[in-house]
Amino acid sequence: MTLTDAQIQSLKSEAKAAMEQAHAPYSNFTVGAAILMEGGTIIRGANIENASFGATICAERSAIASALSQGHRGIKAIAVTNATDTKITPCGICRQVIYEYGTDIPIICSNQSGEHMIHSISDLLPHAFTL
Ligand code: THU
Repeated sequence: MTLTDAQIQSLKSEAKAAMEQAHAPYSNFTVGAAILMEGGTIIRGANIENASFGATICAERSAIASALSQGHRGIKAIAVTNATDTKITPCGICRQVIYEYGTDIPIICSNQSGEHMIHSISDLLPHAFTL
């Protein structure tokens, strides 16, 4: 889909707010995500770390689980942000999870200055695995 400037700004701002709720005492690397759902609702997610490191959930998957758990369907776009100068992209596990909900979902990746780049999930995960 083509996102409007207003939608991009709104998603970036929601992702930043989500980042404030991160639980990242081990890495101190806070991440926020925001998902635009069909119908216009935006759902937030943050990374939630655990003393058993492998139990950590990334911000993107946190947001997806939250959205679906609340009954929302249809992911239109995802924003992800963090508190460094790098415009981080979703990790490999998150790319696979995002792909489950659409092959052309745009992902807005921004840094702490609000600079962003947009990539479709198919660009980030070419030749994705599906059943
Ligand atoms: N993290 C995310 O939340 N999303 C990503 O796409 C990359 C990594 C989190 C996981 C962990 O809490 C921290 O960033 C450092 O890896």
